[in-house]
Amino acid sequence: MNVKAAKTTDATVTVTDNSTGKTFDLPVLGGTLGPRAIDVRKLYAETGMFTYDPGFTSTASCESEITYIDGDVGILRHRGYSIEELAENSDYLEVCHLLLYGDLPNADRKQEFEATILRHTMVHEQLLYLYRGFRRDAHPMAIMVGVVGAMSAFYHDSIDIDDPTHRMISAHRMIAKMPTIAAMAYKFSVGQPFTYPRNDLSYAENFLHMTFAVPTEEYIVRPSVAKAMDRIFILHADHEQNASTSTVRLAGSSGANPFACIAAGISSLWGPAHGGANEAVLNMLNEIGSKERIPEYLEKAKNKDDPFRLMGFGHRVYKNYDPRAAVLRQSTHEVLEELGIDDPLLELAMELERIALEDEYFVERKLFPNVDFYSGIILSAIGFPTSMFTVLFALARTVGWVAQWKEMIEDPSQRIGRPRQIFTGEAERNFITLKDRL
Ligand code: CMC
Repeated sequence: MNVKAAKTTDATVTVTDNSTGKTFDLPVLGGTLGPRAIDVRKLYAETGMFTYDPGFTSTASCESEITYIDGDVGILRHRGYSIEELAENSDYLEVCHLLLYGDLPNADRKQEFEATILRHTMVHEQLLYLYRGFRRDAHPMAIMVGVVGAMSAFYHDSIDIDDPTHRMISAHRMIAKMPTIAAMAYKFSVGQPFTYPRNDLSYAENFLHMTFAVPTEEYIVRPSVAKAMDRIFILHADHEQNASTSTVRLAGSSGANPFACIAAGISSLWGPAHGGANEAVLNMLNEIGSKERIPEYLEKAKNKDDPFRLMGFGHRVYKNYDPRAAVLRQSTHEVLEELGIDDPLLELAMELERIALEDEYFVERKLFPNVDFYSGIILSAIGFPTSMFTVLFALARTVGWVAQWKEMIEDPSQRIGRPRQIFTGEAERNFITLKDRL
């Protein structure tokens, strides 16, 4: 895969240093779609100044061909295909192929790719001992960070990042083994024996089987549940330069091995402002408890002195309905109906959504429900405990992280990521010996 370079446009931006009157012309770069970007790579060399952008709200950190988002209108596309079409017509492994290789596979290639992934689902038997070292009450995300980081100790025959074959093998291994690792984290936490993967099942079916089957009875995967699971995986597969993906790229920019980089991404995803939000949504709905208490919680969310935020609402990029949320909203209804679940939490969620979308505070700030608002409800209907929600996000996002990591390694303009700072601490102090310190 060759990364096409962003084009220098005819436009320039002139910056004037008003203290000296000096002006500097900065080139403007343009991609296929989306806002143009001022190229500040030579700014420090020419002006002696940095740019300042905590939270990177105005900074592009890389060029990428993988995912395009237009948050103002609610567009999400992978390699040009809309998320709605992919969720409706494709399946997760096809989307993995699309993200990793740049195209949807034809029939032969699809079969070959599926066989490659489904044949690598088993993990090294020695990994079982690693699980046994954790406390039973450990959060499954804590186990995921540890186990995925440890994969570099088990699969060190594929960690030469300069070898394209190694890069692809480690990518396949992670996509193939992540469901097994996630299901094992769950089994360990509930004290059940690990279930070995079954390669005759589809990716989603196999994951459900490894999670919910017990040796004492047959477990039959319901097709509608497997379909919903697969769709959840598709909806979480990639989301351009979010916090965890940027973490993976930054970790990888130093030449760290891919397993270590993905473990870093999992750590970043864990936070409640990112992947941890789906768990937080369910906890919040349980805390609100009844429709009557919604106004009280909306007031809390609006109160700047109260740290409470309406979980599952708002997004750094989407200032319109999150297209993933729209797809999942429909799936949630379908699954609850199919499973015959009359979930009061869903009713509460719908009412919360209705009231918030009419509330001036949320309308003004363009705070719409995001994907996590629905994923928690659907996952709990399938039978996952809340502590597994973010694990499932990590499982599905692994392909996005790996594709972005690979793209970065293959990008000739890639350098070690090293942000600058505005130093605001003490300028210089003389050392004080211990006996003289107050
Ligand atoms: N509840 C109440 N107020 C909010 C919320 C919320 N969920 N989200 C944003 N705001 C307010 C915020 O206080 C600010 O108000 P003001 O302009 O008066 O100061 C305004 O809306 C803009 O918010 P921001 O903090 O500048 O937005 P951000 O881009 O820094 O944060 C966010 C984005 C997702 C972290 C935030 O909206 C949030 O914390 N949402 C809840 C957590 C959540 O659902 N996260 C999942 C994100 S989607 C899955 C993923 O991709 O990881």
